[in-house]
Amino acid sequence: MSAWRAVVLLSLAASCNQANECSYSDLLEHLKLSSYNEYLANVRPVKDWRQVTDVKINMVLYGIFQVDEKLQTFTSHVSINTVWENDFLRWKPSDFCNITEFTFPSSKLWTPDINIQEDASDTGSIHKSEHVSVFATGMIHKTAHQRLTSTCTLNLWNFPFDQQSCNITFSSMISDGRAIRVRALAGDELVTNISEQFMVTRGEWSLKHLEITHKTEERFNWSSLVYQVRIVRKPMLYVINFIIPLFYLLMLDVASFFIGEARGEKLSFKITVLLSISVLLLILKDLLPSTEDRLPIIANFCVGVFGLVGLSVLEAMLVSFLIDLDDKFPKKSTRVSNREVPSEKQEKKDPVKEKAEGLPIQPGPPSQREQLRLVLQEVLVAQREVASAANAPRPKRFRRVAEIIDLIFFIFYFVTVVIFLAVSYHIWIPPDFYS
Ligand SMILES: *[C@@H]1O[C@H](CO)[C@@H](O)[C@H](O)[C@H]1NC(C)=O
Repeated sequence: MSAWRAVVLLSLAASCNQANECSYSDLLEHLKLSSYNEYLANVRPVKDWRQVTDVKINMVLYGIFQVDEKLQTFTSHVSINTVWENDFLRWKPSDFCNITEFTFPSSKLWTPDINIQEDASDTGSIHKSEHVSVFATGMIHKTAHQRLTSTCTLNLWNFPFDQQSCNITFSSMISDGRAIRVRALAGDELVTNISEQFMVTRGEWSLKHLEITHKTEERFNWSSLVYQVRIVRKPMLYVINFIIPLFYLLMLDVASFFIGEARGEKLSFKITVLLSISVLLLILKDLLPSTEDRLPIIANFCVGVFGLVGLSVLEAMLVSFLIDLDDKFPKKSTRVSNREVPSEKQEKKDPVKEKAEGLPIQPGPPSQREQLRLVLQEVLVAQREVASAANAPRPKRFRRVAEIIDLIFFIFYFVTVVIFLAVSYHIWIPPDFYS
C-alpha cells in the first residue's frame, strides 16, 4: 500500500515538474546547482582531464587616462570579457520554456584565473561583476571593468613626437597550456574599431592600433594573449609651450648681433636670453625621466641651444674686451683722425676755388700773397698727413680685430644654427608621424 502511495506521489511530483519547468529553480535543479556543488565550484569543468579549456578574451579600451614618463606606466580604462565552456552546464532550451541563459554567482562556479602580467594597479580599481552568465550551450561569460595601470617601457627618444607601444598580456597564473589556452574572441580590426568608437577620454594621446597576438612559450607550453596598444602623442601643447619659445630665443640671439655699438646692452640682452633658456631647461626636467643611456632629442636640442647662446655670450665678451683695449692704450688720441683731414682740406680749398672762380678773369700771374697762402696750406696738409699716418692706426687696431672676429663669428654662428635646426628637425620628427 505504502509502495503504491509512493508511486502516485512520484508521478504527481513529475506532473507538477512538467507544469513548472519555466522557472529557474527547475533548471538549477536539473544542472545540480540548487545547492552548493563542490565539484562545479572548484574543479575545471571538463569530462576528460586531457581536454583543454579554451578561455576566450576580449578587451575593449574605453579610455587612455595617462602615460607617466617618470614611472613608465600606462593607465587606461578597459573592459574585459571572458568566455569559456563548462561541460556540465548544458541543457535543451525547449525543455525549460526556452530559457537560453541565466546568471549565477561566480563564486559558486569554477572561473579561470586569468590575470594581466603588466598589471600594476591597486586592487580597488577593479570592478568585477559578482555574477556570470551561463548559456544553454555550456558557455559561461564573465565581464569586468578596470582602471588598468600597466607597466610599459616608454621610448622617449623623439619626445613630443613619440609613439608608444604598450603590451597588455593575459595569461593564467598557475595553469599551463595543457589545461588553459588563452584565445582572442575578436580580431584586431574589430577591437580597434570598437575601441575607437567607445573611447571617451584620451588625454593627450590618440589610439593608433590594437594588435592581438597569441603566444605559446615553447618550454613550459605556457599560453598567453598579448594586446599591443599603439598610441600617438598629440604634440601641439609641447610645441607651443616649449619648442617654439626655445626656437624664438635662439632667433633673438642671432638677431642680437645687429645691436650696434651699445656693447653693455648687447651683453646683458644675451645673458637674459641665456637665463630664459635655463628656465625652459628646468621645465624639461619635470617632464622627462633621467634615462642616462640615451638622452631624448628634446634634451639634446635644449643643450644645443643653450651651448650656442652661451658661446655667443662668450664671443660678445671677447669683442667687448678687445674694443676696450683700444681705450686702455690711448696714444695721442686728441689728435685729429685720418679721415677728417681730407674733408678739412676740401672745406678750406673750396672757398679759395670759389673765390678764384668768382673773380673776373684776369690774364696774368696771380698775386704773390695768394701764391704764398697756397704753398703754406699745402705744407700744413702734408705735415698733418705725415703725423696722422704715424699715429692713427694704433688706437683703432683692436677695434678692427674685434670687428673681423665679430663678422667671422656671426657667419659661423648663423651657419651652425641653420645646420643645427635642420638636423634636429630631420631626426626629431619620424617620417610616418603625420600619416
Ligand atoms: C609586446 O608584444 C609583442 C608581440 O608579442 C612583442 O613582439 C614585443 O616584444 C612585446 N614588447 C614588450 C616590451 O614586451
